[in-house]
Parts: sequence; C-alpha cells; structure tokens
Amino acid sequence: MLTPASDLQAPSAASGAAPRRLALRGDLLDYTAAPVLDAPDTDGVRWRPDHWLLIEDGRIVGAQAEAPPEGWERVDHRGCLVLPGFVDTHVHSAQLDVVGAWGTQLLDWLATHTFPAEQRMADPAHARATAELFTDALLAHGTTAACVFPSVHAVSAQALFEAAHARGMRLVGGKILMDRHAPPALCDDVEGAERDCRALIERWHGRGRIAYAVTPRFAPTSTDAQLAMAGRLLAEHPGLYLQTHVAENIDEVRWVRELFPAARSYLDVYERFGLLGPRAILAHGIWLDAEDRARMAAAGAQVAFCPSSNLFLGSGLFDWAAAQQAGVAVSIASDVGGGTSLSMRRTLLDAYKVQACAGRRVTAHALLHAATRGAAQALGLGHEIGSFEPGATADLCVWRWASTPAAHRRQQVARDLHDRLFAWITSGDERDLVEIRVAGRRMPAAGYAPV
Ligand code: GUN
Ligand code: ZN
Repeated sequence: MLTPASDLQAPSAASGAAPRRLALRGDLLDYTAAPVLDAPDTDGVRWRPDHWLLIEDGRIVGAQAEAPPEGWERVDHRGCLVLPGFVDTHVHSAQLDVVGAWGTQLLDWLATHTFPAEQRMADPAHARATAELFTDALLAHGTTAACVFPSVHAVSAQALFEAAHARGMRLVGGKILMDRHAPPALCDDVEGAERDCRALIERWHGRGRIAYAVTPRFAPTSTDAQLAMAGRLLAEHPGLYLQTHVAENIDEVRWVRELFPAARSYLDVYERFGLLGPRAILAHGIWLDAEDRARMAAAGAQVAFCPSSNLFLGSGLFDWAAAQQAGVAVSIASDVGGGTSLSMRRTLLDAYKVQACAGRRVTAHALLHAATRGAAQALGLGHEIGSFEPGATADLCVWRWASTPAAHRRQQVARDLHDRLFAWITSGDERDLVEIRVAGRRMPAAGYAPV
C-alpha cells in the first residue's frame, strides 16, 4: 500500500526560488564530446575560465566573458570551479547504515549487514527520514541526479520520490523486486509487486523530474515469474528504466549459473526476460564476457562502474577499456553502501586506481565526463543534465579549487589544466563545495559548513 500524498506541500529543501535571470561567475568546465580515455590532451573539453554562466528560469541560456547587463542577478564566484552536478547512476538509499561494514564479500555482506538494514524501511517513518537524509546527503556531495535503489517496500520508493521531488532533483528509481532467497520480511510476490509497481508508475513516472525504474535486485532474488513480470512492465511502458546488478562477484556468478542452467550467461538471464534495452542500467559487469558486452552494446544498455564498492567488497576489477571497445556506455557510480562514500570525487579516484591496476591511466577529463555528460547521455538525459549546453537545466555545483593549505599549494604548482583537475579530484573533498543549484535554485548543503 502506498502512503498518502505528502508531496502537495511546497518544496521544503531549497532555499527560496531561483532568480528569473541569474549570472554565475567562475571557471566553467563541461564536456561537449567523450574525451579519449587515456590522453589528457583531448577534444571535447569546454574550459571557460572566468566566465559568466547565464541562467534563465532555471535553464542555461549561455555563457560569456563579459559581465551581464542590468536585469541579471549576479553571483560572483570568481576563482572557483563551476561543474555540472554529478550524476550517480547506481546507489542504494536504504544502505547508508551499512557503509563501511567490515569483513565480508558480496553474498555474506547482503545477508549479514544489508538485508537487516533494508528491513527497517518497512516502517514509513524510518523510510521518510532515510529518504530525507539520503537526498540531502547526495546534494551535500555535489550529486544532483541519481539512479537509486530504495528497498522492496513500496513505502520506501514513495518516500524517496517525495524527497527528491521536494528538492526538484532528477531521480530515477523504483521499488526493489525480490521474491526469493532473502529473509521473508524482504520478499514480495509477483502479484503484490506488480500492483505496487503499477501504482508507483502511475503516480510518479514522468512527474516533475522523477522517472520510474523497474528494479529487480539481481537474478538470484527473483523467480522466473517475477522476471517475466518485470519484462511485461517494460514492454508496456517504453519510457521506463531498468536497473539491476550483473556479474559482480565470482560466487554470485556461479550461483546464477546453478539457478538458471539454460541461460548462456548471467547477462543472458536478463535478456531472456526482455530486460535489456537502451534504458537498462546494469551495475558492475566485472565478469562479463565478450559476447555479453556485444549483447549489451547491441541493446544500448549501459554499465554503472562502481569502483569503491568493487574494491571494498573485493569483487574484482572492471575492464573499462573492453566495455568501451565493445561500444558499451560506462558511467561511474558510488554503489553506497557496498561503496564507501557518496562522494563522486572519491569514487572517480577509485575508478582511476582500478584502471591503473590494469596498466591504464584514465584522465581527469574521462572521469569527470563519465560522472556528468557521459552518464546523462547514457540515461538519454543529455539534453537536460550533465552539461552547460543552452537549454539544459541548471543543475550545477560551485567548488573551491582548494580549501586547505596543502591542497592550495598543490593547485599553485599544477602544470596545466589537466594536472589541476586531477589534483582537485585527488586532494580535496566536499569542504570545497561552495554552492549547489538544482534548476537554478540554491540548495542548502546539509552537513558541510563552508570553511
Ligand atoms: N547485488 C544484489 N544486491 C546488491 C546490493 O545491494 N549491493 C551490491 N553491491 N550488489 C548487490
Ligand atoms: Zn548496488
């Protein structure tokens, strides 16, 4: 059952309406094309130091070096870096309480830490408090758009959508589907789950900036009947997303082989049930083979690469270059709570380290692109988020280049823009965050007082 509407209230989390015409001054960085993965000197970098970004009615209308004329409210952040808001393409709102839970691999971690935490989301008050905390925490890390797993409970999806809607955030999410191999308190059934999904889709999909994602947790926790139901929903509503996990951990892959002996591979389980398509976001994909990658590319499905989770849970090292060569879009995601931080800066650095283990040096541009415009495009939202293209919604963050003496000195000795950016990703943190805007409206950065 869905809880009664509380989303008719005025948005509570934004500090006032956006000015109709707003000009923000700073060092503007966004991307116009996908950078080469490992060459710092690459096309597609749009670097406009000390420019004014012009925003009208919450949308970007242009940028210029000169100050705007009368009639524009000016906010002067000269000397700061202005980036599109980050897009986290895979994160669990119900897992804040298990971040850094020590000592286990995926399947143990789910049973020992994660399932108990998710059971608490059955309580509507807990679900609402968690959704508020989670959406504020995303913003406080500079993340203005996300693809989110709440829990199996419809009330947790409802609370998540309400919190994101109140903040005006772009959010893709859906109630988790799981009808086996989990504690009874976390299992739904095909009919009940279908009813809940249909009610949530009816109520939320396309409302404001919310989009619904059919969300089977992963193949082991859904029966054939439930996966078939998920496929039916997708076939009936072509605008829906599909999000799930695939080929994350060796034991998990072995288990899927036992559970679905007729499938060619883990990925094939999803394909057989009609779940692969251009709006499919598959987290991890560490243990995919070449045929899987080709199938994903043909379907237009994307991988959410979750480096901090993969390192923390000891799942393995994702092969970004192989995915790219196969034509599979790759975005970067925190996967909290398997991931250890909501910070996309920390996560990008982990992505660099994972690739470095395979002898590849991914550039700051490739990393930042994957967390902004690249992710937006993979989600089919490139017109709306991820860049400063005229017409895009003004979801953006203003960051100091440095907030500590050591980080400041590192910036001073940087050799060029790429060196500056890589040092920025590496040496700073969310203390650098000066301002977060969603559709031009300034949001409070809960938890982070400017230094
Ligand atoms: N596979 C199935 N569920 C989960 C989850 O919650 N987190 C991660 N990292 N992998 C999963
Ligand atoms: Zn996950």
